[in-house]
Amino acid sequence: MLPPRCAVQVCHVLVLVLCMSAAEDFDWTKNDRSSFYYGTFPAGFSWGAGSSAYQTEGAWDKDGKGLSIWDVFSHKKGRVLRNDTGDSSGEGYYKVKDDVSLMNELKLNHYRFSISWPRLIPTGIKSDHINEKGIQHYNGLIDHLLANKITPIVTLYHWDLPQVLQEKYGGWQNASIVSHFNDFANLCFEKFGNRVKYWTTFNNPWSVAVEGYETGEHAPGLKMHGTGAYRTAHNIIKAHAKVWHTYDTQWRGKQNGMVGISLSGDWGEPVDINNHKDIEAAERYVQFYLGWFATPIFHGDYPQEKSYIKGTCDFLGIGHFTTRYITQKNYPASRGGGSYFTDRDLAELVDPRWPDPGSEWLYSVPWGFRRLLNFVKAQYGNPMLYVTENGVSEKMMCTELCDDWRIKYYRDYINEMLKAIKDGVNVRGYTAWSLVDKFEWDEGYSERFGLYYVDFKNKNKPRYAKASVQYYKRIISSNGFPNQREVETWKRRAIETCSSSNQLLAAEEQRSTAANILRLIHDPLTSHMEMVTEIVVPTVCTLCILLSAVFLMFLLRRRN
Ligand code: NOJ
Repeated sequence: MLPPRCAVQVCHVLVLVLCMSAAEDFDWTKNDRSSFYYGTFPAGFSWGAGSSAYQTEGAWDKDGKGLSIWDVFSHKKGRVLRNDTGDSSGEGYYKVKDDVSLMNELKLNHYRFSISWPRLIPTGIKSDHINEKGIQHYNGLIDHLLANKITPIVTLYHWDLPQVLQEKYGGWQNASIVSHFNDFANLCFEKFGNRVKYWTTFNNPWSVAVEGYETGEHAPGLKMHGTGAYRTAHNIIKAHAKVWHTYDTQWRGKQNGMVGISLSGDWGEPVDINNHKDIEAAERYVQFYLGWFATPIFHGDYPQEKSYIKGTCDFLGIGHFTTRYITQKNYPASRGGGSYFTDRDLAELVDPRWPDPGSEWLYSVPWGFRRLLNFVKAQYGNPMLYVTENGVSEKMMCTELCDDWRIKYYRDYINEMLKAIKDGVNVRGYTAWSLVDKFEWDEGYSERFGLYYVDFKNKNKPRYAKASVQYYKRIISSNGFPNQREVETWKRRAIETCSSSNQLLAAEEQRSTAANILRLIHDPLTSHMEMVTEIVVPTVCTLCILLSAVFLMFLLRRRN
């Protein structure tokens, strides 16, 4: 037993320590980029995972669906890596029940998905035809989610524009798109709005504008330098505002939901924080990404339609993956020629120590996430935020379920989001990107973002949990990172469980490769090239290596 005076002193010290740590809570972590913050999220914080229609559904020409610009783009040779297409992808269209059971395994609170416009309105023009089967499909998905207590967060446009609208009018280049998109949105509110309360009009419009109409890496593949991106963005901003007003005037009273937009933004950190040119360039980087859309929507700082566009966001979706160091570029005026990139006038750099396990552009820089969230808070009056995308890919061609790098990415990014909430940022939910592996746009199936691995070679497209499933599950069930002792056991346990699943999957893959070989033998008409590249070449190479090894050993023996 402690003597009473001593006990009082101990209590005094304890209280002091507690007070200091509470006061320093935020400062302690603010400048230290590598520190980890143990703590939990506010009660009611919503945990989810996401997908998009073209990336996961498959069934590209089934049940009356019309063509989208991605169907057409991916079918043109040379546009997508290895000429992959989303024709069948992970067959998500047929796997609603399976995928909802994965969500249950994770105990998700919400699921973010997008509605395919041409599945509902095949030509994109509502007066032409409405596809009832498309409506039935999304009704089924929404009902099944709700029956499992999973809140749907629905995106109206995740890049799959009806091809007819592109061909007839030039897609997002033409102002007429605004009313067609509004008709589509109105139909969705009418059919699903009694059950869907969270809508985002657009997913990552930056990509639609820049990659679709400026660089042409994405559908529709147009390279309209200096005009394409700007015109697209202009029509998207107007379309977003129109849809928000439609909801506000016609549906909000009955349905009581919210309409936002999901913007993507990398964080830009000045290379030299003492150089004002770098500071300005870094600010431009973020403004040309996120501010391009967020400023008119939140501040109305936009010609002509100021008051119509201002305030058209009930919540803001944020998609974030990575960070860059930024410095001023100084493009010579004569060389500019007018393009989004010369206008931005900056150079992007990366730290070679940043981990980059998957996509070439995706470096893991968790502290950038907290900065971006704080930037949004400061610039746009601390709006209600939902993180609509965050995650990391792997490039591995072989099976790998033990994704410890993804565990680290999620752990550290989610922790930075927690710190941002402690900073006062109003984040209400988080969406891991993505639920299952899927078609990764111009990179085809070469980049896997899923928490669940999809065996694309198997026609049943089975899903297997990666180790990150176990880890994310723990974060969700603890609503954060309760304490060091507990959190440290999570990763070990996750990796333990994945090694047995890894073996299972490898065996299954061997079995399906053998089945494919048999199929090729029995079906001589099947692509000769497939046979040569998948079987003959690897077999001949292996034989050559074996023969050389035997020959070498033979030579060595003779020498001895
Ligand atoms: C953002 C896009 O919205 C999503 O579709 C894509 O999978 C991720 N970036 C990763 O590239």
